[in-house]
This record gives sequence, C-alpha cells and structure tokens, in this order.
Amino acid sequence: MRHVTPTSSSARVASIMAVALLAFPACKKESKPAGDDTAGKEGEKAPGGGPSTGDTPPAGGGKIALLLPESQTARYEAADRPYFEGKFKELCPDVEIVYSNANQVAADQQQQAEAAIAQGVKVMVLDPVDGDAAGAIVNDAKAKNIPVISYDRLIKGGSSPDYYVSFDNERVGQLQAQALLEKLTADGKKEPKITMINGSPTDNNATLFKNGAHKVFDGKVKIVKEDAAANWKPEEAQQLMEQFIAAIGPKGFDGAYQANDGTAGGAIAAMKAAGIDPKTKPTTGQDAEVAAIQRILAGEQYMTVYKAIRPEAEKTAELACALYKGEKPADGVVTGKVNNGTIDVPSVLLTPIAVTADGAGETESVADTIVKDKFYGDDTAAQICKGYEKACEAAKIQ
Ligand code: BGC
Repeated sequence: MRHVTPTSSSARVASIMAVALLAFPACKKESKPAGDDTAGKEGEKAPGGGPSTGDTPPAGGGKIALLLPESQTARYEAADRPYFEGKFKELCPDVEIVYSNANQVAADQQQQAEAAIAQGVKVMVLDPVDGDAAGAIVNDAKAKNIPVISYDRLIKGGSSPDYYVSFDNERVGQLQAQALLEKLTADGKKEPKITMINGSPTDNNATLFKNGAHKVFDGKVKIVKEDAAANWKPEEAQQLMEQFIAAIGPKGFDGAYQANDGTAGGAIAAMKAAGIDPKTKPTTGQDAEVAAIQRILAGEQYMTVYKAIRPEAEKTAELACALYKGEKPADGVVTGKVNNGTIDVPSVLLTPIAVTADGAGETESVADTIVKDKFYGDDTAAQICKGYEKACEAAKIQ
C-alpha cells in the first residue's frame, strides 16, 4: 500500500471534477441554439474556428461527432461513450452527437469521419484507430473549420489537432513494469525472465506504454520474448503467448508484461491451455475491466492500471461544448503540451494508478480505488463479486 497518497482516489477524482467545473464556467451556461447570433461572443474564438457566428445552423440545433476506435475493450461502450454523452447533453442540450465506433478498422473510421463531416458536425472528438492515418481526418476537418479533440490516443500524421485529452501514458507503462518487477523481486526471482506483448503498433499510446515499461525493465529483467498484438486483439495475444511458450517452455519465463486487460486475458488463456497455472506467472494489464479485476482477485492476473475514464470523458465533453460555442476553455484547463510531430498540442493529461488485489508495494488495492470510486456505478462491488464472493471478502470488498 502506498501511504504517501494524501487523498483517496475518489477524493482525487472529485477534486479533478471540481477543477473541471470551475474551469469551464461557460459550459454551465444555458446552451444557445447554434444559430443564436450571440453564440461564440461570450468567450474568445476557439482554435480551429468553431462555429462561426454567421453560420446558419440546422433546425433544432447543430451536431458534433464522437468517433471511438473499437468495442472489444469494454471501456469505450461502457464508460467513454456514456460519460461523454451524459456530460455533453447536460452542457449543450440542443446539440446532437453523431456517434460511430470503428471496431479497430482505420478505413471504417475514415468513412465514419467523412460521413460526420458531411452531416455538418461543428466539432469532432476523435479517438483514432491509427494515429498516423487519422492525420488525414484532422486535415479534412480543419479544412472545413471543424476543431478536433484528439481523445485518449494522440493523432499525428502531419496534422494539428486543437486539443489532446488523455492520461500520462508513459507513466502507465512504468506503473505496469514497476509492479511486475516488485512482485518478481518479492517472489525471490534473482534475474527475472519476462515475456512482453505490447499493444497495437498503430496506437501511439501503445508506443508510450512500451517505452515506459522498457525504462523500468531494461537492465533489470531479461526480456526473453517481445512482440505486439495487432489491433489490440486478445486472440492475437493468445496466439503470441502460445508461440512463446512453445519456443521457451513453461519454465522459460517468470512473468508476463501485457499492455492491457484484454490482451492479458488472451495470454492467461494460453498459459492455462499449456497447463501453466497463471498464479505462478504474474501478469500485468490495464483498464480495470471487470473480468480482469475478477482474475486479480482470483490470483490469475497480478495487476491492472486504473484510469478514471469519467473525468477523461467529461473534461472532453466540456471542451467539446466550449468549442461548439466558439469559446476557448478558461485558463487552467489545459495543463500541458504534447508534441505530435507537427505542433505542440494543448493537452489535458490525467494520472493513472497501479492496482493489485491488496495494494502490495507501490500499488493501491481494488477496494481503495475501483470499488471506492464506484467505477462501474452503484453496483460496482456487486458486479465484481458475482461468483467471486470469497475472494471479495478476502480483499475487503463489499
Ligand atoms: C487505451 C487503452 C486501451 C487500448 C485498446 C489504448 O489506446 O488507452 O485504455 O486498452 O487502447 O483499446
């Protein structure tokens, strides 16, 4: 357990939200129909334009686009989308959200973006399947004066998105690697051997997770096998792990670095199929998916990284609403800049947390984070504990 943390994670999220609300006073004002000629006059003109005051809006209010990358990872449909939509509808109630999910097919996302632009969206929130390919989408949008928020994954490809909202993603990789290294050391492994399966090479986040992990591992562990799961596919991770085990044998590795919970599930399935007890091979993950938390409580997965999606999605909704109105976010909202190869993109970066069953070492416990924050709503504990009652009791989750 990390005792230095002065506040609980729920208090942290609450304080983030308080800052966000203070930071977006304009968004709390009653939304004007996009055609109201005072729209855009209350704040400074947003980068990328936003709806110009002279625009004639579609009857009944205008539109914005929310384009998410995939649905095999639970977060997008279960958290990102509902949290974004809930906040955005509260702040900009007359504005329609055009939503699409690309199921990790970059060409489909390109078409979905073109369709949204053709429908006249005034702001685009884009979580790219392929960060480089999505540069073309941003360039198309900007040519029509549509501001773009790069959501969770950074958009590159010679483009200039207006904002980037995400987590400190190199830190995610560091947290995963530190937790695994600590565990292997505590288990008495002198020269730990690990396998690494990284995320999709087309996702800039995957590169950052990998870089962060290598900063911790290099020189301290022996990486016996390393590869990437194309498009973050759990079944791809499962196949890779099968191949690794076939090549190095069940004793050839002490632990497994997996970039997220979906691919951790695939790797753990491969271990089981090869007759390996996953409890003997600490495995990392990310996203705090219910299935992963259950594996953690059952001892089959060692850790996950908890990223509070709600503030990420809600801050993005606040930004999107401000941009829709042609306003610039108030001072203090944007906390940094991240270079995407073309420009320094004004950025909001949130803090990830390493989580294990009981909060070993530098990590925090499931009870103190995901459960306390009600990450999956009021019945978070019930969802996690269904079929895992004893493990929940042991982990003080109720
Ligand atoms: C996200 C992760 C997610 C992965 C697969 C990354 O860009 O940050 O939370 O697990 O994509 O969708």
